[in-house]
Amino acid sequence: MDNSNNKHWKNVTYAGVYDRVGEFALKEELDRQVFEQVLRYIPRKGILVDIACGPAHISKAISELGYRVYGIDISKDMFGKIDSRMHYDFFRGNLVNLDQGLIYQIESKDLLADVGIVVNGWYAMTAQERKKDKNKMEKIRWKSLLNMSKLLKKNGILIITDPLSSSRKLSLLNVISFIKREINAEIQTRLGGKITILKKIKASFVVLLRVLNKKSAKILQYNRQILKDSHLFESAEEMCSFIKRTRIFQVIETNDKLYLGHNILLVARKTVE
Ligand SMILES: C[S@@+](CC[C@H](N)C(=O)[O-])C[C@H]1O[C@@H](n2cnc3c(N)ncnc32)[C@H](O)[C@@H]1O
Repeated sequence: MDNSNNKHWKNVTYAGVYDRVGEFALKEELDRQVFEQVLRYIPRKGILVDIACGPAHISKAISELGYRVYGIDISKDMFGKIDSRMHYDFFRGNLVNLDQGLIYQIESKDLLADVGIVVNGWYAMTAQERKKDKNKMEKIRWKSLLNMSKLLKKNGILIITDPLSSSRKLSLLNVISFIKREINAEIQTRLGGKITILKKIKASFVVLLRVLNKKSAKILQYNRQILKDSHLFESAEEMCSFIKRTRIFQVIETNDKLYLGHNILLVARKTVE
């Protein structure tokens, strides 16, 4: 199956600036949610695979706790952002057309994982420059989900978080709401303690500088285009019923919340052999 989404992710400039997305307090909040879910489900001495890992912020933090972790991504430039001193394996792979050789390599190294995470990565696999074809998009989702299951042990857990389609809307109200939420997240995640006027002023200033920063502005601009070219689920229910139909995973829990966009966070258990 043709997968022209490579063009989006082979963009070296994007890989160069993407790491800065970690500076947003709302992304840190989302990452923390995923981090906590991983710790709930990973057994002692368990293995974690970070699918479409990008700069691998969450799995880096998990590896520091002593778990075995590795990442897979289509873009080798994203790997350049991962600390080379880390005990961490990377594989370059396309989850839509997963190379059988790569699966053998992972199996032979005993790297089938107990838990997999795919953070803002599943929708990314559907980012196409050409006009959208709904059937083709559904096939990409299905095939990539099946490929993700091949990286997991029997009954393995997959934690997915993806933006829902309302994240595309860039109205003035949404921008204002985003800035307000980012200021609150900045206070909660980085300044801590009770909210005071002084903290509000400090956080507002930090957020303003962050949003006006050239690199951050570039990420937001690229992301806008990628979201536009991607197939996003309308709602949590739609995503759950799609996964149910595939019979590859069984959904265990979901929640959705406004982070950088409106994200759903979903935990599922592998049901295929
Ligand atoms: C929005 S970034 C998210 C990165 C990371 N998970 C994070 O939360 O920061 C999407 C990632 O998906 C990767 N990607 C896109 N299509 C892919 C595919 N078909 N197979 C593997 N990775 C893919 C991109 O290279 C990029 O690193």
